Amino acid sequence: MSGRLAVLGAGAVGRSVVELAEEYDYTVTAVADSQSAAIDAKGLDPEAIFTRKDADGTVGDENPEAALDASYDVLVEATPTTLGDAEPGFAHVKAGLEHDRHVVLANKGPVAERYGDLMELVTASDGDIRFEATVGGAIPALSTIEDFGPGHITAARGVLNGTANFILTRMAAEGLDYEHVLAEAQDMGVAEADPTFDVEGTDAALKCVILANVLSQGEQEFALDDATVDGITNVPGAALDLAADDGRTVRLIGEASRDGIRVGPRLIPENSALAVSGTRNIVQLDTTHAGRLNISGRGAGGPETATAVLSDVGRLL
Ligand code: HSE
Repeated sequence: MSGRLAVLGAGAVGRSVVELAEEYDYTVTAVADSQSAAIDAKGLDPEAIFTRKDADGTVGDENPEAALDASYDVLVEATPTTLGDAEPGFAHVKAGLEHDRHVVLANKGPVAERYGDLMELVTASDGDIRFEATVGGAIPALSTIEDFGPGHITAARGVLNGTANFILTRMAAEGLDYEHVLAEAQDMGVAEADPTFDVEGTDAALKCVILANVLSQGEQEFALDDATVDGITNVPGAALDLAADDGRTVRLIGEASRDGIRVGPRLIPENSALAVSGTRNIVQLDTTHAGRLNISGRGAGGPETATAVLSDVGRLL
């Protein structure tokens, strides 16, 4: 199905959306980063845009805000996640919906921090929103919940941060120190713009907040303040060695239900489904009549997360 995309954010995810759009039969009519925008109603050339961005840090000659007024069917919001008022991402989504356009978010901020405000905007718009990319990268967690019926799922849990999981896996396997492995994760493009979000558990907690909001179907609104969060910064290498001696390992586990949200390092058996390696994520859904569903896959990275964005575009058009 063809369609025109305006992409806000030119980091790993925004860039991959622009580069993969043609393969999905979409035309990118606008791209913006924090400094600049490129706009062409006939379609932009990804190679020209990113050659320029790599050379001088800008994607085009226009102001970033101009992208919001371009011709598009779907606005893709892929700017970095911010906390609290979730700006400027929230203002971008608002502009798209007020133009009666659809919006797809990769940015977790507006969905985790202002879910109620977002739903009010959707109600008043002819456009709709989707946000599969905000939880678990390429894993179709939210659409699985939607298909299964949120009312038949009691809880979701899993490994929801690729950076933290990569660090724990490498520390355990190679005996490497924490800072060394974090630098590797940043080089791979899986860490957040602010990697403290990854290692302190904030990113996993935001994903759990989004899961809780989706499971609750608007009966209750959750935000980051509702979560109890511990990260992996205080997990010593020795703890990983001790766990291994006992056939166990440590994973940063997030849990979301209508009763609350918790994120923290947990000891789990090495043969548990939750013991995924590297940047892989897993989402477990506890269902009322069908036991436990496990969905696992690549939870971070530009092309991986872009596939979730582009699938959402397809669901909306
Ligand atoms: N930085 C995140 C992670 C990816 O490491 O899993 C985006 O949510």
